[in-house]
Amino acid sequence: MYDIHRISPEELQHQQLFAQQVRFHPDRPQTYYIVTYGCQMNAHDSEIIAGMLEEMGIMPAQDRTQADLVMHNTCCIRENAERKALGNVTWLKEIKKERPQMLIGVCGCMIQQERMAAKLLKQYPFVDLAFGTGNLYRLPEYLLDVLNEKQRVIRIDKDMNTVAEGLPIRYESPTKAYLTIAYGCNNFCSYCIVPYVRGRERSRLSDDIVKEAEGLVASGVKEITLLGQNVNSYGSDNSDEISFARLLHRVSQTGIERIRFMTSHPKDLSDELIREMAENPVIAPHFHLPVQSGNNRILHEMNRQYKREHYLERVQTLRKAVPGIGLTTDLIVGFPGETEEEFMDTVSLVEEVRYDSAFTFIYSPRKGTKAADMPSQLDPAVASERIERLIAVQERITGEILAGMKGSVSRVLVEGVSRRRETQLTGKSERNINVNFNGDPSDIGRFVNVRITGAGSNTLRGEKED
Ligand code: 5AD
Ligand code: SF4
Repeated sequence: MYDIHRISPEELQHQQLFAQQVRFHPDRPQTYYIVTYGCQMNAHDSEIIAGMLEEMGIMPAQDRTQADLVMHNTCCIRENAERKALGNVTWLKEIKKERPQMLIGVCGCMIQQERMAAKLLKQYPFVDLAFGTGNLYRLPEYLLDVLNEKQRVIRIDKDMNTVAEGLPIRYESPTKAYLTIAYGCNNFCSYCIVPYVRGRERSRLSDDIVKEAEGLVASGVKEITLLGQNVNSYGSDNSDEISFARLLHRVSQTGIERIRFMTSHPKDLSDELIREMAENPVIAPHFHLPVQSGNNRILHEMNRQYKREHYLERVQTLRKAVPGIGLTTDLIVGFPGETEEEFMDTVSLVEEVRYDSAFTFIYSPRKGTKAADMPSQLDPAVASERIERLIAVQERITGEILAGMKGSVSRVLVEGVSRRRETQLTGKSERNINVNFNGDPSDIGRFVNVRITGAGSNTLRGEKED
């Protein structure tokens, strides 16, 4: 077992004192801008960073070139995520030449990788502030150090296994909110860097989660997405804790109108959870269930701990229990040693399951993971060609599924006006599919029933029902 470091209220009070000192510091930045890369976890961490900065009196800037503090909340899941983040940090160096008071910060998963601190110190001297995933809660202290010491502060702790409660959060949306239920991951899929940069799995206490959900409901939030690298194993690091299914049940009793969750691991998808989804109308009928590959040898090499047959059985059980449930997934092509036949098993699984949509990725070797040292890394051209074929299959299936929804009625949480056509409203259906429809802006932030009249390649069109 490993130790979970629950940050004490005293430590958090210290941070609040630091925050007050930053607030009244003569040199404090007036404005901030956060550039976020990667997954929902990172998006939510950025909401926490924003919350902490605003507690220090620092306000959002319209544009990153105008901000006094630019934070980059980075991702390192694939090489291109990392390249993009480093490219943007370097780009800002030029802006800083004209605005030397600008502070450049970098945090998140990329920073937590081995050797990163040394690399930053040497190759990125214009970065003023860097911290890892486990010590985010100490941002006030670090910022105060930057202001007082007038030198760069690079603080990347080895201890990632922290849980900090009660940090301020600046929610992006007044109607939809993320709520983290667990941090880190214990699965060590052989391709994945996450356990190395986000630490071991640690569940928040269910009472804290329910309290947060109640607060969100009281502030008018209509939909909560519970977040974790593997929400299905919620509580398994703490023998006193309830199961994920029970947690969903408790959150659904808070008065929230709709609950979503992500991400799930097929090996931990329990019958209890399927039953809860079948019986609980507050839980959206959508399941994001990453399969990664449809071939048993590759699944084994990936250390996924399930077989194709088990996955398909779970899908069948889910569909029987929750008719009309929408499934989505993540797929990796070009894993080391993947043959054409093995790749075709992924294609056949996609044909068999018929996902609403899928995130498809070319395998990207990550230093420190087991797969990065496997022999027979594939020719990138082979992987590219495979992903094109896979995407074409999925696009066809998505098109067929969306076309089949014509005439049905969806309950849509209206998010805003459509980016494409300002006369239209946009929101997400129960199955998490984008729906555009003619409606009144006063519906923004509400649930409305929309009759589906048409489908694009990945969105639905409709008319509001009275
Ligand atoms: N290369 C490509 N895709 C990856 N993913 C995780 N690690 C890698 C990697 N090294 C994908 C998986 C996961 C999603 C979040 O990112 O499909 O489910
Ligand atoms: Fe990575 Fe696997 Fe954990 Fe998902 S379950 S975060 S893919 S190690």
